[in-house]
Amino acid sequence: MPETLTFLGIESSCDDTAAAVVRDGSDGPAILSSVVQGQTRLHAGFGGVVPEIAARAHAERLDHCVEQALAEAGVGLSDLDGIAVTAGPGLIGGVLSGVMCAKGLSAGTGLPFVGVNHLAGHALTPRLTDGLKFPYLLLLVSGGHCQFLIVNGATDYRRIGGTIDDAPGEAFDKAARLLGLNQPGGPEIEQAAKAGDPDRFALPRPLLDRPGCDLSFSGLKTALLRARDGLVAQQGGLTRQDQADLSASFQSAVCDVLTEKSRRAIALYLDLQPDEPAFAVAGGVAANMEIRAGLKALCDKAGVAFVAPPLALCTDNGAMIAYAGIERFRLGLLDDMALSARPRWPLDDTAAPQLGSGRKGAKA
Ligand code: KG4
Ligand code: ZN
Repeated sequence: MPETLTFLGIESSCDDTAAAVVRDGSDGPAILSSVVQGQTRLHAGFGGVVPEIAARAHAERLDHCVEQALAEAGVGLSDLDGIAVTAGPGLIGGVLSGVMCAKGLSAGTGLPFVGVNHLAGHALTPRLTDGLKFPYLLLLVSGGHCQFLIVNGATDYRRIGGTIDDAPGEAFDKAARLLGLNQPGGPEIEQAAKAGDPDRFALPRPLLDRPGCDLSFSGLKTALLRARDGLVAQQGGLTRQDQADLSASFQSAVCDVLTEKSRRAIALYLDLQPDEPAFAVAGGVAANMEIRAGLKALCDKAGVAFVAPPLALCTDNGAMIAYAGIERFRLGLLDDMALSARPRWPLDDTAAPQLGSGRKGAKA
């Protein structure tokens, strides 16, 4: 196995078409390029991601993204040691587009390829950015996912809690829709909240009365809907200040829930007596500054290092997939043309399914 590995990473599981080149050597990993083509505009008129539109856009754009990533990295296909691709979980049309692209490149070049779990990409990002040692605690908070994972190794994850209904990003997106703000809702709510009073509306902090690290956000969304409807009934609509106050109250409730549940997750994690305890946050919601600040303060108090990747590496990207592919490759885990795209693929197969489970098994 060469000491230095250069991998192309391909990501297309939701609404970002992404490709990146990552090199990992004796000095640690480096991102040589990272190209992300978002699809926000394509889905804007529909109030959410339309899977069919997303899949077509991925199929059209992947080649260009890959070309651009190679050009920006200053490497050709012959300089690569392998290709990593998101093989799930996600919207099946998009995942298929990426897997087919990787298989095509592999068939044409003879390069090995590795199918990567999208969540593993997020979960291993703190190793790419900060070289974290196993085991560390991870809070994955995105538009589709919310879980606490103890990351014991590149293929060894223990889920100790997660949402029983909506993911926080989904809750931010729905809240923004209720308040007449644009999508994606997280950054819009965060922006509006800056001018708002977080104490004006007493929104609930769901599930804090229940022990453990499970979370819930759907009741919070309903409470926001009631508060909004109350104002609309009273005064015929929402003022800018109402929007700001509702945003601030909502964000503050999400932040309180995430912080308290993280406190409990950290206690469970510290029972393992890790040598260099660290708590990392990943996923799109980790871009939220109030949430980051709340979690950082918690970690400072607990004597645990807090790691929040740069914003561009919190949201979906190809670099995290390239890096996760390198970690799998170093463990001898390769795929072949039989690799299939998996819409459902939990990181911890042993944890009881909480969300979206059914005949086909747990979603993630
Ligand atoms: O990880 P991501 O890019 O995609 C997946 O869901 O996998 O996360 C996107 C989610 C969206 O729901 C978006 O509203 C949320 O992350 N988000 C934020 C912020 N930036 C993005 N939520 C709260 N505050 C933010 N600043
Ligand atoms: Zn993601």
